[in-house]
Amino acid sequence: MIRLIRFSRMLVLSFLVTQQTVYADDHPIPDEYVYCTVCHGILFGGNVATAAPKLTGLSAWYIESQLRAFRDGLRGTHIEDLAGLEMRPMAEMLSEERLSQVSRLVATLPNQNQLDNPGKRTERGKQLYSGCGACHGADGRGNQQFAAPNLVTQDSWYLIKQLNNYRNNIRGTQDRDIPGRQMRSAVSGLESEQDLIDVVSFIQSMQ
Ligand code: HEC
Ligand code: HEC
Repeated sequence: MIRLIRFSRMLVLSFLVTQQTVYADDHPIPDEYVYCTVCHGILFGGNVATAAPKLTGLSAWYIESQLRAFRDGLRGTHIEDLAGLEMRPMAEMLSEERLSQVSRLVATLPNQNQLDNPGKRTERGKQLYSGCGACHGADGRGNQQFAAPNLVTQDSWYLIKQLNNYRNNIRGTQDRDIPGRQMRSAVSGLESEQDLIDVVSFIQSMQ
């Protein structure tokens, strides 16, 4: 029995060690940021179970802007925004220096293409996206000039959730939040749940 326990412990340990090695060798994440991956997934690939989105594929300037938005109370304060409320204290813990450092770090990680929705192009989706392209780019890859992030690498569950956050006045409501307010007014053309699905499917078809 004891031998069995020892053996299984060894198995668990060797599993952990192996995991650690793959992780550390390929893309070392400094110890102080490993806790981000507890929610955002290994290598920041997103995790629907914790509602924490994929961060790879995003530019450093956008990651930094959102960490600031959480830290400064522009995002993640609404009572119905459970996911945002969870993220907010994480950003509050970061010093100015770490906030920039982690943003740059995450932006250098490889983007993992594991889209849950292969993206079915519909005429309606294309038509709806034509307005979005003015800021997010005709290719959906974002434009820093308009503070508009890359959308095409993101998972559909998170895109739909954020579009609903803007529609339901959960994100982008505060006077100081100029990019958020711009985005909130941009969702007025999305009238139904089907519109959200169509526009998000179109976005993902551009991957
Ligand atoms: C306790 C879980 C948790 C931890 C730990 C955590 N996050 Fe988050 N994070 C979330 C959730 C949940 C969201 C989604 C918020 C929403 O839906 O608006 C989020 C959102 C974000 C966003 C916004 C992404 C976007 O596309 O707008 C960024 C950037 C981010 N997190 C960075 C980080 C970084 C960097 C760390 C570590 C310093 C971290 N997070 C740690 C849960 C977490
Ligand atoms: C006027 C410019 C503009 C237009 C038009 C626009 N957006 Fe945005 N969008 C932005 C900006 C700026 C942000 C970042 C907001 C922030 O910092 O909180 C954003 C953020 C988003 C996000 C959140 C991404 C994330 O990672 O959290 C989604 C999703 C999105 N836009 C989708 C769309 C869709 C779909 C359309 C068309 C229906 C659209 N946008 C039209 C400027 C725009």
